[in-house]
Amino acid sequence: MTKKAFIFDLDGVIVDTAKYHYLAWKNLANSLGFDFTPSNNELLKGVSRVRSLDILLSIGKINLSQEEKDKLLAQKNEEYLTYVNQMTSDEILPGITALLSYLEGQQITFSLGSASKNAPLILKKVGLFNKFSAIVDGNDVSMAKPDPEVFLLAAKKLNKSPQDCIVVEDAAAGVQAAKNAKMICVGIGDSTILKDADFTLASTEEFTIDFAKKLID
Ligand code: BG6
Ligand code: MG
Repeated sequence: MTKKAFIFDLDGVIVDTAKYHYLAWKNLANSLGFDFTPSNNELLKGVSRVRSLDILLSIGKINLSQEEKDKLLAQKNEEYLTYVNQMTSDEILPGITALLSYLEGQQITFSLGSASKNAPLILKKVGLFNKFSAIVDGNDVSMAKPDPEVFLLAAKKLNKSPQDCIVVEDAAAGVQAAKNAKMICVGIGDSTILKDADFTLASTEEFTIDFAKKLID
C-alpha cells in the first residue's frame, strides 16, 4: 500500500468560493469609494483575511485604525457568510467528489490545509466535512502561506512525513508553502503563475483517477 497522503487546499480546489470572496471584497471597496477588479482579486488568493484587507486598503490608498479595520473585517465576513450559507454540494468543483471517493476506497488518507477560518462551515455546507481525516485551517495556524506551517501541521495530523504528502493548491502562495514544506505539489490553474508546482493542471476536472494513480505509485 502507498505511504502517500493528500493535503487539499479548500478555496479554488474543493469549491469555487473565490467568486464569493470577490463579491464581498468588491462591495467593501465600493463602500469605501474605490473599485476592486477581478485582477485585484487574484492578489488575495490563498492570502489570510487580515492580510487581504491590508492589500485591498493599499489598492484604495486608505489608512485606517486597527479598530476600523476590525469592523471592516467583520463586515466582509458577514457578507461572505450570506453566500456560504447558501452553498450546496453542487458547488464542489468538477472531479473532486470522484477523486475523494477513489482515495477513500484505496484507504489513502487526506487532510484539508486551508487559510480559511470558515473552512469547517464550508465543508459542512457541501457535505464533505466527515470525509477528511484531518482539518487544518486558518484557526489552527499563526503563520500564513507561503509559510509551510499549515501543511506541516496537516502532515503531522495524518502521521505522514512531508515527502509522502501531495498538496493540491490553486494559489501561488500555497504552492510556495507546499514547496517550503518539502512536499509534492499539484497546482490547479495557470502554469505560469503556479510555476513552482511539480505538476500543473488547468482545472480540477483534469485531476483524473489515472493522474492520481500515477502520483501515488
Ligand atoms: C483562502 C482564500 O483559502 O482563505 C483567501 O484563498 C481567503 O481568498 C482566505 O482570504 C481566508 O478566508 P476566510 O474564510 O477566513 O476569510
Ligand atoms: Mg485556494
